[in-house]
Amino acid sequence: MRFSTVVAAFASAAITSLAAPSPSKHVLHEKRDGKPHLWEKRDRATPSQVLPIRIGLRQRNLENAESYIYEVADPNSPNFGKHWTAEEVANKFAPAAESKDAVVNWLVDSGIERRRISLSKGQNWVQFDGTVKEAEHLFETKYWHYQHVENRGLRLAVDEYSLPAHVQKHVDFVMPTVQLDGLKPIANTNHGKDAMAIIPGGASLGSLSCGELITIECLRKLYKFPVGKLAAPSNKIGIAEWADYLYEPDLPLYFKNFTTPEIPTHTKPEFVAIDGGLRANLTTVSQGSGVEAALDVQAAYSIVHPQQVRYYQVGDGINVDSVGTFNIFLDALDESYCTYEGGDQPYVDPAYPDPNANEEGYQGPLQCGGAPKSNVISVSYGQIEGALPEFYQIRQCHEWMKLGLQGVSVLFASGDSGVANRYNAGYPNSCLNADELFVDNNGTRYSPSFPVNCPYITAVGATTLLGNDTESGERAVSRPGTGPANAYYSGGGFSNIFPVPSYQASAVGKFMQHHAPKYGPNVYNDTGRARGFPDVAAIGLNVATVWNGSTYGVGGTSASAPIFAGIVNLLNEARIAIGKGPIGFLNPTLYKHPEAFNDITIGDNPGCGTGGFNATPGWDPVTGLGTPNYEKLLPIFLRLP
Ligand SMILES: *[C@@H]1O[C@H](CO)[C@@H](O)[C@H](O)[C@H]1NC(C)=O
Ligand SMILES: *[C@@H]1O[C@H](CO)[C@@H](O)[C@H](O)[C@H]1NC(C)=O
Ligand SMILES: *[C@@H]1O[C@H](CO)[C@@H](O)[C@H](O)[C@H]1NC(C)=O
Ligand SMILES: *[C@@H]1O[C@H](CO)[C@@H](O)[C@H](O)[C@H]1NC(C)=O
Ligand SMILES: *[C@@H]1O[C@H](CO)[C@@H](O)[C@H](O)[C@H]1NC(C)=O
Ligand SMILES: *[C@@H]1O[C@H](CO)[C@@H](O)[C@H](O)[C@H]1NC(C)=O
Repeated sequence: MRFSTVVAAFASAAITSLAAPSPSKHVLHEKRDGKPHLWEKRDRATPSQVLPIRIGLRQRNLENAESYIYEVADPNSPNFGKHWTAEEVANKFAPAAESKDAVVNWLVDSGIERRRISLSKGQNWVQFDGTVKEAEHLFETKYWHYQHVENRGLRLAVDEYSLPAHVQKHVDFVMPTVQLDGLKPIANTNHGKDAMAIIPGGASLGSLSCGELITIECLRKLYKFPVGKLAAPSNKIGIAEWADYLYEPDLPLYFKNFTTPEIPTHTKPEFVAIDGGLRANLTTVSQGSGVEAALDVQAAYSIVHPQQVRYYQVGDGINVDSVGTFNIFLDALDESYCTYEGGDQPYVDPAYPDPNANEEGYQGPLQCGGAPKSNVISVSYGQIEGALPEFYQIRQCHEWMKLGLQGVSVLFASGDSGVANRYNAGYPNSCLNADELFVDNNGTRYSPSFPVNCPYITAVGATTLLGNDTESGERAVSRPGTGPANAYYSGGGFSNIFPVPSYQASAVGKFMQHHAPKYGPNVYNDTGRARGFPDVAAIGLNVATVWNGSTYGVGGTSASAPIFAGIVNLLNEARIAIGKGPIGFLNPTLYKHPEAFNDITIGDNPGCGTGGFNATPGWDPVTGLGTPNYEKLLPIFLRLP
């Protein structure tokens, strides 16, 4: 399903002073195109049923978001590196009083008593409990029961809704309306047979060639980075996991066999539990859900030590159809963003206390602020752009931008299914319907991922060695499989929602002009005006990982993200050593320096019944700018203020 926004456009978000609240005609605000994936429409909702109605007020100054972030992240800006405090961020984007007044006055004029209406602490949401009948009247809509075809869960939702013309410009979106599911993030670890090979008899540094197993020695040769020196406590790299658990007894085995200099075997990451995140034990390991966490933490440690790893375990892993969306992680980092105070959508994001109390769900309140921020955060999970509401993605994208404003570099794995999406997570097909852009089992249009579609994220694709040693160079990862579900290609493409950011426009333009395949506009946005991803790449196959006591060569853009993020952490270390601050949002600097990358020009990322894109000279939607050359990146980052 794709949610088209018919009239309201974020770019034109101008808050005008409130005109006299004369009753105005309703205009369409959000509409679901096509039939929602995996949900069946059932009967009409009962008019007396009470709904928790939340009206998201438009935040101020978002139209300036790009200029704010470039002010601190563009190397040509005199204010490069002058990051904002959390409070400055909250104040800058709080909605205008006129917006609140326009919405509240309309509700009161429509018969909702003022005493029933409240405003969230962050002033971002107007909220009240209203009946289906009241909501249908206010939003000129009809509520239906929808049933999930697999778990049989029921949701109340509408197909479209409207707002009075004079109110619409003050509102982002209303909940609950068109939204149905919060898709759980899917780890981008490729579990295909070839891509996660157990190493018989175990292995250690130097026992195998780099072509057989990628170790820290191979990575140092490839990307020319040194051993970390500074144990800067402020510079812990952040690794976030959803329903994959770190089995800590694997760490000493990994440190002993695969790190040099050897990391002391008692070393453990700082453990940050968010909303009931648990430490793993043998039970969780035997459920087979820990390879992702082992890979991410071990790859990061091998690069950044003696700096440390901060491990965020997000969500209790029980919350039905919401094992965790990225919003609960953002909530924990930033209290101005929490439920009813910022970006969360009830019914899309998991609820805490967990309603599934009988399954031992987390019974504490939603964590709101208080989790420490890291200078660099690496996430190896993704969702489908075509399956989430557009407003929702835009709002969350702005939250990632706000982390950038505060000096945080956010890196995400670009996905393991080429131009398609989630094949490797067992989805038969998540390509899009060519006309309507919703996920369709028979779809043929490319399916971009979220949140790598967001221009404020650094998206990391995957490469592999061309031959048996690091001298042989790299190509885009390519693991054909029996059927798309077992294949593995670097996730890449062009967003159907986000326009090309200015830092990327020339790189995308060159790709379009010289290398773009001519599949036509029904297959992907080939105008050169859409955000392209990934931004960069790193090795993502055969990466040495100890899991449940044995060594595996693990693949996935899941490996690429912590490897690239680890190198960024080293660059921050070098800046901290000369008294400078962390780099923050990376992309404007990276795109100015394509010469600091190993350009990858071999390979492709097929999917959706096509050959996908080719890795080509310059930026391409398979490997981005290429893989990092630390020796070239270091002077660039040290020269910046
Ligand atoms: C570590 O290396 C030794 C040989 O040096 C090997 O016997 C052992 O199996 C390896 N451990 C793992 C987890 O691979
Ligand atoms: C192991 O973890 C599972 C799931 O988190 C939990 O139910 C179980 O009680 C734990 N077992 C032990 C021995 O701690
Ligand atoms: C983990 O290792 C134990 C002991 O070696 C084994 O019994 C168990 O099956 C393994 N778990 C998985 C999920 O492979
Ligand atoms: C999709 O394809 C299947 C067969 O692969 C067919 O049965 C089904 O009707 C098609 N659905 C649509 C909406 O075209
Ligand atoms: C890599 O090494 C294996 C065995 O050591 C050898 O059979 C193979 O030909 C080598 N491949 C390349 C591309 O050199
Ligand atoms: C391509 O993307 C741009 C930027 O988002 C958008 O303005 C344009 O309408 C899109 N073109 C097509 C054909 O979808």
